[in-house]
Amino acid sequence: MSGPVSLGLDLGTSELKAVLLDESGSVLAHAGIVLSISRPRDGWSEQDPEDWWRACGAALYQLRSVEPIAFARIGCIGLSGQMHGAVLLDRQDRCIRPAILWNDSRSSAEAAHLARSHPSYSAITGSLPMAGFTAPKLLWLKTHEAAAFDAVDCVMLPKDYLRLKLTGERVTDMSDAAGTLWLDVVNRQWFEPMIEASGLHRRQMPRLVEGSEPTGFLLPSVAAEYGLRETVVVAGGGADNPASGVGIGAVDAGDAFITLGTSACVVAVTDKPVGNPAAGVHGLCHSLPNRWYAMGVILSGATCLQWLTALLSLPNEQALLDLVREQLPLDRPAPLHVPLFLPYLSGDRTPHNDPRARGGFMNLSVDTSVAMMGYAVLEGVGFALRDAVNAVESTGATLSNCALVGGGARSDYWGQLLANVLGLELHTLSGGELGACVGAAKLGFLALGHDRELLQRGVLAKATFAVDRVPHEVLQLRYEKFRGLYAAVRALH
Ligand code: XUL
Repeated sequence: MSGPVSLGLDLGTSELKAVLLDESGSVLAHAGIVLSISRPRDGWSEQDPEDWWRACGAALYQLRSVEPIAFARIGCIGLSGQMHGAVLLDRQDRCIRPAILWNDSRSSAEAAHLARSHPSYSAITGSLPMAGFTAPKLLWLKTHEAAAFDAVDCVMLPKDYLRLKLTGERVTDMSDAAGTLWLDVVNRQWFEPMIEASGLHRRQMPRLVEGSEPTGFLLPSVAAEYGLRETVVVAGGGADNPASGVGIGAVDAGDAFITLGTSACVVAVTDKPVGNPAAGVHGLCHSLPNRWYAMGVILSGATCLQWLTALLSLPNEQALLDLVREQLPLDRPAPLHVPLFLPYLSGDRTPHNDPRARGGFMNLSVDTSVAMMGYAVLEGVGFALRDAVNAVESTGATLSNCALVGGGARSDYWGQLLANVLGLELHTLSGGELGACVGAAKLGFLALGHDRELLQRGVLAKATFAVDRVPHEVLQLRYEKFRGLYAAVRALH
């Protein structure tokens, strides 16, 4: 084969992933570089953008060494990344301070202030002001780090920092811009009143493009460093959730998916803007023109499983999953004395919009086993996702064809349990954990002029989880108890 290859880069929170994708949608090679988070205070979450760029370089060298011929055929690049982060640049494009990430809750008071002072804006920006979004972070900076705030010449989203290093351009795409709260998501243009309410000016925003548009070419120095052509086109790309949608072909109204990664999200694609900000739903722009999506977000998804595995000093998550499968098989209802788990380890967005919410086990007894706790965690994430599904459906969006993607989708046990909890048939896809990266690469091809038919290529079904009715009924009773828990423990937060 001699056609162009697209390089997809997905800047996740715990890992930067890279793929080489050909025009048939096949992944020729992939690489991953682990990233760490710094948490200098309770509720804070930061990363140094220079670490992202170093990880990007390391991933490129890995790909070049495993697939040198395909690497030399790279004709385009697509970018995807964690949403809502604030990367603050001075006039010389230097980072003023570490980036403040999507799961950082320091700006909860500023978010509440924006919500109180501009109640009508969420119908335009697609979401209630929440601590994770970019706008309240800048208000926090204005009050707490005034010198840094005064030095801000441009606010960028995380993946766009990679673009800046690759091309020298300050650009973002509609889907990532929508996660700032500074975008008019209906008209797909900056919304100046909200920018001004954050103490900023429109000239501090990057240029806006659709995810499938070209944004520039590689800088000669970058092309030379990695042995790439200077004609390589960099596409707008997308925020990680919509980019995952592009990767798995969820691009039309009714298509839906659940991502089980560091966070867990329920995403339903629509062909018009929809929303219900009051229910904690984000109604944002997809990374393709004329497409939007409704999303419910829980901030700790597969993270909850990692957390419990580490806490119990088990070798890895699979060891815990094996114990759970052995002792609590899904063809029998979970015993009544199994604990319930609230998964709000870093607060909650949908439906509670409560950055101070915290997690917990309830109903522990002297008989509680490690396996029961593991089960409770898997189920608790499922119950929180059920709240998110209800919120997303309240916008009128439908989840008729729902995939399960992200690292958590590797467990068939969790997949079946989620289908039973949600009362929703789910399917997994081969390579579903690379969804955002593949989506980014596909957006790269669109920017090169390929047509949209390419979006459905390479999407191969792996497993289907039909709803098992008997456990679904039993789980319904446990879900009702789960729903009472948040209200019961709220005063503790
Ligand atoms: C979505 C969100 C997270 C991050 C994780 O609103 O904040 O899913 O995008 O990467």
